[in-house]
Amino acid sequence: MAEKKLPFTKAQLEEIIKEHPTPFHIYDEKAIRENARRLIQAFAWAPAFKEYFAVKATPNPYILKILREEGFGADCSSLAELVLAEKAGIVGENIVFTSNDTPAVEYQKAFELGAIINLDDISHIDYLEKHVGIPEIISFRYNPGPLREGGNSIIGNPEEAKYGLTRKQIFEAYKIMKEKGVKRFGIHTMVISNELDPNYFIETANMMFDLIIELYRTLDIRIELVNFGGGIGIPYRPEQEVVDLEYIGRGIRKAYEEKIVANGLHPLKLAMECGRMITGPYGYLVAMVLHKKEIYKNYVGLDACMANLMRPGMYGAYHHITVVGKEDWPLDHTYDVTGSLCENNDKFAIDRPLPRIDIGDIVVIHDTGAHGHAMGFNYNGKLRSAELLLKPDGSVELIRRAETLEDLFQTLDFSRL
Ligand SMILES: Cc1ncc(COP(=O)(O)O)c(C=O)c1O
Repeated sequence: MAEKKLPFTKAQLEEIIKEHPTPFHIYDEKAIRENARRLIQAFAWAPAFKEYFAVKATPNPYILKILREEGFGADCSSLAELVLAEKAGIVGENIVFTSNDTPAVEYQKAFELGAIINLDDISHIDYLEKHVGIPEIISFRYNPGPLREGGNSIIGNPEEAKYGLTRKQIFEAYKIMKEKGVKRFGIHTMVISNELDPNYFIETANMMFDLIIELYRTLDIRIELVNFGGGIGIPYRPEQEVVDLEYIGRGIRKAYEEKIVANGLHPLKLAMECGRMITGPYGYLVAMVLHKKEIYKNYVGLDACMANLMRPGMYGAYHHITVVGKEDWPLDHTYDVTGSLCENNDKFAIDRPLPRIDIGDIVVIHDTGAHGHAMGFNYNGKLRSAELLLKPDGSVELIRRAETLEDLFQTLDFSRL
């Protein structure tokens, strides 16, 4: 069972709100650091293991800096993410650039930073060579298609997903790169998202180890780095279990010994690029109840909306809700918890049993530390909120201010009206 506790008391939160008005996302630094160490510990046996944090999950340089201090690199998928990694002091091969449908300027920046470029398509070999040149190390993203089941609404079934190279193309791509003189190779896959079954990641490792052996046998290519992608899920629902990282580490170790070591391919560097499981559970969207409405159903309207957290509206995703100070009250009311967008899917929860809610209550939406603020948008002119960092000493730092109307209108020239 996943405990849905808060890292602050009601009194502490009220103090924070006095200085930083709701809505805001707040991240728990101590918990993020401890969690980062758990992941690294699970792979302590490996000759080398690196977690390239998926910047898209929490694209805030202060969070990236914390993770850099824990030994993480960055998984970037766009120009902005590359710049953020650079600002946080993450450069060179501590960056993996995994993009798709990539503009040349993004490859140029990745190349300039010395990032490991992970190509999404065989046709990008020529594109990269034309616009940037051939780097010293190259990686390809493998899409196993029908050879692997899985996927979900976030990432898609591998066969339906737009990402990566087919099995046939993978062999062709490494052959081309070898002929072009490349000597250092990585390989990557990302076939699942928010998966709670640890066995899935062990199966992915087995699949990749088999492929690495085959590449070695057919092309005489020695892969230096295998990246299993991200996708480790988090227990959004209280009844779900936290993924056992030690179990994943042990399972991958067994496969490594049976396949990589047994075939003389040791040492091989292992990597992951998780986002959600690193920061997700340690971020909270804090909002205030503005209105209550009773029509055919009972509604509670917050000062936050889907622009602050898109997952419930977009995927129907569950996010746990705590009404601060009412944690022990009976859940004897049923509400739809809404935001103010002119979209009926702007709901953080539908038919959710909750304690009686009153106007002015502080509501905390859990597990917003990844793919939360990051997915924000400005529909209806809604402004993206501030991001705060709860530091290990209990102090709070503003790590991104809230947007203002001036920010929103910055690209408009009203003078010509
Ligand atoms: C290529 C790639 N790597 C890593 C991630 C991070 O996934 P997660 O946050 O589920 O671990 C994503 C998510 O969209 C992705 O597309």
